[in-house]
Amino acid sequence: MPSKVVVGVQWGDEGKGKVIDILASRADVVVRSQGGNNAGHTVKSGGEVYKLHLIPSGILYKGVKCYIGCGVVIDPQDILREIDGLSERGIDCSNLRIDPRAHIIMPWHRRLDGLSERALGESQIGTTGRGIGPCYMDKYERSGIRLYDLVHDEIFTRKAAAVGALKNRIITQIYGGEPLDVPAIIEEYREYAKRLAPYVDDVSVLTYNAIREGKDILFEGAQATLLDIDFGTYPFVTSSHPVSGGAAIGAGVGPGELGEIIGVAKAYTTRVGAGPFPTELNDETGDLIRNRGQEFGTTTGRPRRTGWFDAVLIRHAVRVNGLDCLAVNKFDTLSGLETLKVCVAYKKPDGTLLTEYPCDINELKDASPVYEEIGGFSGDISTCKAFDELPQACRDYIEFLEKFCGCPIKMVGVGPSREQVLER
Ligand code: GDP
Ligand code: IMO
Ligand code: MG
Repeated sequence: MPSKVVVGVQWGDEGKGKVIDILASRADVVVRSQGGNNAGHTVKSGGEVYKLHLIPSGILYKGVKCYIGCGVVIDPQDILREIDGLSERGIDCSNLRIDPRAHIIMPWHRRLDGLSERALGESQIGTTGRGIGPCYMDKYERSGIRLYDLVHDEIFTRKAAAVGALKNRIITQIYGGEPLDVPAIIEEYREYAKRLAPYVDDVSVLTYNAIREGKDILFEGAQATLLDIDFGTYPFVTSSHPVSGGAAIGAGVGPGELGEIIGVAKAYTTRVGAGPFPTELNDETGDLIRNRGQEFGTTTGRPRRTGWFDAVLIRHAVRVNGLDCLAVNKFDTLSGLETLKVCVAYKKPDGTLLTEYPCDINELKDASPVYEEIGGFSGDISTCKAFDELPQACRDYIEFLEKFCGCPIKMVGVGPSREQVLER
């Protein structure tokens, strides 16, 4: 198996965890390259459900090495909690390695995430509150604390004391918030450092060597294209690059090493948090999809907004990721709906048609989706074992999607388990 990259192509939660878990069974190494514990990847295996936030979704396979690259932001407490939770369930994390260049989420990042959201009032982004944006802000401002610093006590103490004092001034004097106890934080993080030290290694070197040894590498994307800091619905985005190009930088390998690029989508669209969503359904159909598809956030438990499949958005994702193919999940959720709609363009109030995803969300203001319709399918498709077993109307819908997306659909999800993916 050549290297593969798995990226989300909508607004997240497309079922990347499931697809990665399936592909990881044929891989030697799984590398996470961006985002942090804002991600929530669900893997269902043997009746067990695992919700992974920072640890790559290859961890369930004993022989697979799991790397976290420099592009990821690490919450030490959270990753240790995740390691402990997996260990209690008999999953061994000794194959995990984390790049020392990865930045550390500190308590002030979480505090500032909440305070800045509160200050935004009605314009708030609806972040996961995990401190992701403020941590990446420090990284790019060049004042961040890296894992390397954390595991070198003297450097960590000096940096954390200086940065912590400055953050307390921002928290209290700009936002009117409660200051943090910086010395207590330093003590607490010292303990995390001791426990994380054995996992620290240069992921760029490890991944490069694995490639040279002919190993199969799987790059695991988190978040999704429309949450990308540049190619998403700015400012309603996350603070990293979930697009495929981000995988090269975030893992520390050349773009030529990425191999096949697989985009994961749902057979409809969902979004958590605020921001534009042209095909959103604020009606009974939207509620039905939410309830039947169990569309509640894996990380925050928030109800996900739901809507029809948007092919304009997917075509944008095909281009910016260089997608080779799509894996589309949750066809089972749509069973029983009489008609299925696919958005193929947006119409502005002056009648202009937008066929490319616009650069700025203001272009979407008052634009309405232009739909193509197709008859729905019915029956329980969750037990289908092959593409040919799907009802003809379901296969027609899949071909309908391919036509408007301009990309082949190679994996079809009909349920949450490993076995419920039909490969074409
Ligand atoms: P991720 O963030 O992209 O990994 O996706 P999440 O795990 O946050 O959300 C996807 C949800 O859909 C999880 O609860 C999965 O178990 C579930 N899921 C994935 N594929 C399918 C599918 O084909 N059918 C159904 N019914 N559920 C699915
Ligand atoms: P996975 O990997 C869905 C959304 C948040 C919010 C915006 C910014 O499970 O698909 P942040 O905390 O990142 O600053 O929040 O991004 N968001 C996600 N939505 N799935 C995710 O990850 C997400 N990670 C962030 O809801 O709208
Ligand atoms: Mg998720």
